[in-house]
Amino acid sequence: MNSATRIQNSRQQLREQLKQQRRALTEAEQKSASLQLVDTAMQQPEVAQAETIALYFSFAAELNTAPLLQALLDAGKKVCLPVLHPFAKGHLLMLRYDPQRPLINNKFAIPEPPLRCPDVVPFAQLDTLLVPLVGFDSQGNRLGMGGGFYDRTLAGWHAGRYPQLKVMGLAHDCQQAGHIPVQSWDVPLPAVITATRCWRFRHSSL
Ligand SMILES: Nc1ncnc2c1ncn2[C@@H]1O[C@H](COP(=O)(O)OP(=O)(O)O)[C@@H](O)[C@H]1O
Ligand SMILES: [Mg+2]
Repeated sequence: MNSATRIQNSRQQLREQLKQQRRALTEAEQKSASLQLVDTAMQQPEVAQAETIALYFSFAAELNTAPLLQALLDAGKKVCLPVLHPFAKGHLLMLRYDPQRPLINNKFAIPEPPLRCPDVVPFAQLDTLLVPLVGFDSQGNRLGMGGGFYDRTLAGWHAGRYPQLKVMGLAHDCQQAGHIPVQSWDVPLPAVITATRCWRFRHSSL
């Protein structure tokens, strides 16, 4: 087995272990974490001061983003949600979310805003992007679901384009891992917000 395969195998094991920890949370713990997240996230300047902010629709045992989504709308922010890119395979587009317009399930059964060109918000116009993750470590390394969608989508930002854009992860406290073995394409996060606190990492430019 070559070293790249070995790294991918250990990442897959860690992914399963972290997902299991997330699934073990009780309904009451899930609920209180999703409500506490609203307070913790709203206290961060990157969220509080953002005029245009993208987050995502959570599913399964992920930290429920619905209360935060509502709080951002109530605060009068322009809120965006990711949509699978229609041409660039494995990439995401950010679309303005209009609560009046019903969401449509994509091929992964994740609700998305309907793909209308005027609703596409370019990265140059985004203040803050909140991303999902399965695990994070003390360096801000990120483990996702295994599709690499955010690594591809954030490659330009990681290379220094969109310097105005603040990227932060959202996660349950139990998603912190000791050490995440990284691959060349992985985009680390400058910060991760959990229910109880905001973690900021060394390579942070925030
Ligand atoms: N910037 C990129 N360009 C091309 N392929 C990528 C890029 N980022 C990720 N990938 C591909 O996506 C796959 C999943 O990436 P991985 O980092 O393991 O998933 P995740 O970040 O969701 O945990 C990898 O097999 C990798 O080849
Ligand atoms: Mg990755």
